Amino acid sequence: VLKLGLLLVIAYLLGAIPNGVWIGKLFFHTDIRQAGSGNIGTTNTYRVFGPVAGTAVLVLDLAKGTVATLLPLWFGITTVNPLVFGLMAIIGHTFSVFDHFKGGKAVATSAGMLLVYNPVLFVVASLLFVSLIYLTSMVSLASMISFTIITIISFAIQDWLLAVLALALTVFVYYRHRENIKRIANGTENMVPFGIGYKR
Ligand code: G3P
Repeated sequence: VLKLGLLLVIAYLLGAIPNGVWIGKLFFHTDIRQAGSGNIGTTNTYRVFGPVAGTAVLVLDLAKGTVATLLPLWFGITTVNPLVFGLMAIIGHTFSVFDHFKGGKAVATSAGMLLVYNPVLFVVASLLFVSLIYLTSMVSLASMISFTIITIISFAIQDWLLAVLALALTVFVYYRHRENIKRIANGTENMVPFGIGYKR
């Protein structure tokens, strides 16, 4: 029980590492939370600091979800589903102890969890996500639609634990994207210079 509790705390702390904030401060002397959309994730890091920093945050934020979900496997925990560890990392990422219990929008960290739990679904989600970015040029919209479709697929394949978690995460992802939703509705959402939806 002690080992389990400790590993859950480690999963939370791992998720809480605000890669976007720390990379921005360390290499660009800029607070990412005060720039662009104000989000600490890959999209805004790419927007504000460019592709190298953006890619670094993508890999590191994905890795938080991946490593946390692998912890029970590495430490021989069989009584608790690995998704619980992934969820702890997502809670860390979105309510970070290193960032006044604020944080990101849960997209990359959730994907990192899915990579371990169901690699096939991860590949499906990634292809879907990239296709949606190509169609809309909006990462926010692509994120929300991808979460919705992965939830539907999880119910369809009758993985009930994943389905319930995906549904809860989808609701949360929409909530965290509420400013994006307003911008999408009035046609002012930030676009990435990729795909057929892109307008200057
Ligand atoms: O991963 C977050 C993405 O969906 C939107 O980011 O910075 O455009 O709000 P941003």
